[in-house]
Amino acid sequence: MKKNIIAGNWKMNNGLTETIELIAALKPLVKDAEAEVAVCVPFTDLAVAKKALKGSKIKLGAQNIHWADKGAFTGEISGAMLKELKVDYVIIGHSERRQYFGETDATVNARLKAALKYDIKPIVCVGETLAEREAGKVEEVLIRQTEGAFADIDKASLKNIVVAYEPVWAIGTGKTATSDEANDTIAIIRKKIQKLYGSPVAKALRIQYGGSMNAKNAKELMAKEQIDGGLIGGASLKAVDFSQVVNYNA
Ligand code: PGA
Repeated sequence: MKKNIIAGNWKMNNGLTETIELIAALKPLVKDAEAEVAVCVPFTDLAVAKKALKGSKIKLGAQNIHWADKGAFTGEISGAMLKELKVDYVIIGHSERRQYFGETDATVNARLKAALKYDIKPIVCVGETLAEREAGKVEEVLIRQTEGAFADIDKASLKNIVVAYEPVWAIGTGKTATSDEANDTIAIIRKKIQKLYGSPVAKALRIQYGGSMNAKNAKELMAKEQIDGGLIGGASLKAVDFSQVVNYNA
């Protein structure tokens, strides 16, 4: 049975003190969660977060990974470095990376390979912009992003990968895809995975929804057949808000 996964994406928020405080507040609130829980924190918070998470089942995630093992890549962080920090998950290809930092399907694929090499579970983000949705290109975009991300990735690796469907127009805007929209769009991604890797792999793959998911809409979204979790931005920055998403069934 696959386990749902709710991951917080802190983005560029929280220094060391805030990290310690937020995790301390969060731990008791999510200790009975049915879903797997993760917090994806800025690189500078990873070591402190790891320590703060001790005694809980909450997993630790980073927000990016470079494809090279080491070398002249100023400002980048390697898989080896993340592994040393005992990072469990890493977000790859978030739309903010694609939009502001030149991330492409090819770099997403290279980073995905690095994560798998270092045994860090990737959360691979895909999603269309508002212009693409309005132009009727949702399917085309998601198929291109999925094919690009998964190029040369073998079937056996799929069990370690999580996909996050995040419509760009729903991120940080307060606009959520309706649960039906999210469900139907995730079905497109799953169908593509089925074509690439077969039905059992596609069924077992965990696909999250992300984009203004919060305490109010989590239950309805999570009830959908295709939705196996959430990637939570804004609502992951407050312990109570995030715990209410995590405990969507309570
Ligand atoms: P949001 O962000 O929940 O603030 O919309 C989600 C994300 O970008 O991962």
